[in-house]
Amino acid sequence: MIPIITIDGPSGAGKGTIAQAIARELEWNILDSGSLYRLTALAASKEGLSLDNEEAIEKLARGLAVKFESMPQGLKILLKGEDVTEAIREEQVGMMASKVAAMEGVREALLARQRDFAKAPGLVADGRDMGTTVFPDALLKVFMTASAEERAQRRYKQLKEKGIDVNIAALVEDLKLRDEQDANRKVSPLKPADDAIFLDTTSMSIEQVTEQLLELARQRFSL
Ligand code: C5P
Repeated sequence: MIPIITIDGPSGAGKGTIAQAIARELEWNILDSGSLYRLTALAASKEGLSLDNEEAIEKLARGLAVKFESMPQGLKILLKGEDVTEAIREEQVGMMASKVAAMEGVREALLARQRDFAKAPGLVADGRDMGTTVFPDALLKVFMTASAEERAQRRYKQLKEKGIDVNIAALVEDLKLRDEQDANRKVSPLKPADDAIFLDTTSMSIEQVTEQLLELARQRFSL
């Protein structure tokens, strides 16, 4: 069986950064599942599809022409050959992603694509339902949180570094709304798996969280 670490939690908790650090250290594969919902949202917007048109968006998700390329500075994401690494990080794309992610057909369409990432020597997968729906048999499941203010600060810093201009108050509101949508939807809502380990990272540094999870991984997988 392929060893899998799942990291779920609300927006801006630092899941992506930590998943990348761990995958790099262990030399395992990585799945940024949120990017698939963001890509579906971006593709729908590029094609001028209305968010009411569930059938068309599901079809789009099923046929998504996406490529992930590993670069020293992180993942490069291509949609139909176009580099959309930065574009999918925009807050409004995140908000649209949360809307398309509530569609059962879209989640179903993206399921097999996500499971295909489970390849030797191992996988680190981050998202909202990695430990509950996509990889329920994963040996190490983490539910990562941080206070809403801290998460907004982190996201603000991250977007700023990418040159994306945002207003912090609007960001707090956006994150809250998105979490509410994600936690209250019918299909695969944001919730910890029964066997997940909770980690509140509000006052932890990236290095501390990474080290703690690596320690857990070494124990669980006898690395
Ligand atoms: O993690 P990220 O913020 O990139 O995810 C964007 C949106 O995609 C989330 O707000 C959520 O609605 C959706 N998502 C999801 N299930 C996942 C990952 C992301 O529903 N496993």
